[in-house]
Amino acid sequence: MAGVFRHGHYLLGIEGLALLRGGAQRSGDPVEPRVEEIREIAVRLEELPYSARRDLPASDVQAGYSSWAQTYDQPGNDTIALEEPIVHSLLDDLPPGPVLDAACGTGRHAAYLAAGGHEVLGVDVSEAMLAHARRRLPAADLRVGDLTDLPLEDDSVTGAVCALALSHLAEIAPPVAELGRVLVPGGRLIISDPHPLASGLLGWRAVYTDEAGLRRMIPEHPHLHSEYIDAFRAAGLVVRLADRARPDTSPGTRARPGPAPRGVHASAHRAARGDRLGGREGRRQQRWQRLIEPPARPAPRRDAQPSVPVVSLRR
Ligand SMILES: C[S@@+](CC[C@H](N)C(=O)[O-])C[C@H]1O[C@@H](n2cnc3c(N)ncnc32)[C@H](O)[C@@H]1O
Repeated sequence: MAGVFRHGHYLLGIEGLALLRGGAQRSGDPVEPRVEEIREIAVRLEELPYSARRDLPASDVQAGYSSWAQTYDQPGNDTIALEEPIVHSLLDDLPPGPVLDAACGTGRHAAYLAAGGHEVLGVDVSEAMLAHARRRLPAADLRVGDLTDLPLEDDSVTGAVCALALSHLAEIAPPVAELGRVLVPGGRLIISDPHPLASGLLGWRAVYTDEAGLRRMIPEHPHLHSEYIDAFRAAGLVVRLADRARPDTSPGTRARPGPAPRGVHASAHRAARGDRLGGREGRRQQRWQRLIEPPARPAPRRDAQPSVPVVSLRR
């Protein structure tokens, strides 16, 4: 098992964070159950589900989105479920005029903007993702292009959105400068991205299943909030609002909005059967279920869950 990062290793890390929250942060969560869970996982690292590999093979942006394009829009994408309501509410506030969906992918936000009466331009580096956007929006101006060299004139759009894409770039100053360049003075820009804590510390990645049924991931580059602020300042952009989409963990709600991803769903099914088991095995399965799918009853806020910062700017 040397060098392989397993699901059990990941869970041990999350348990460690929970211990810190309970102990070092004095959140009131008891630490003993966590230690018991850590012992349990540590001795079972070579059994499923703990032995499942978590270090998925990587694809670059072009190859990854080319393969993912077929299924990207299917329901069950937790990140989109978190991000979309906030971004849409900001898009609703855009003044009339042409709007750029930068790294538009399959045209998710572009379609929303077009339905709201905007003239929409879309740019993306992936032909495969754009092919879907073209089917969805036959009348829109959709161009192949890179965020670092947008195929648009200076001061040509009154609004722009760049959703869930900047984190794929190692440097964010060049694309942010480009977004500032194409906006008219006073124009608005809306950006959403995975939280750097999620991608930097918790290992969150854009994960998809390829044509052969193999789970793969597209690399992410975590950027600190200070990097975004520096890039905004250099591009002459002023922050109007910064929001953070996170799962609703209030009493009576499920922590995961929408259907669970396939892998988690399958594991939950296993755990549900375990509920009927008694004794040690039943308790082990119930614990496992709790880790992957927090219970519907009131649950503590889970700071380790991914969140999606959304920022609205003006030039
Ligand atoms: C997670 S998808 C998001 C698509 C769309 N914005 C949405 O939110 O549904 C990321 C998109 O960014 C695009 N992308 C990544 N790097 C890019 C770059 N340097 N220039 C243009 N597009 C890029 C990918 O091709 C992909 O379509």
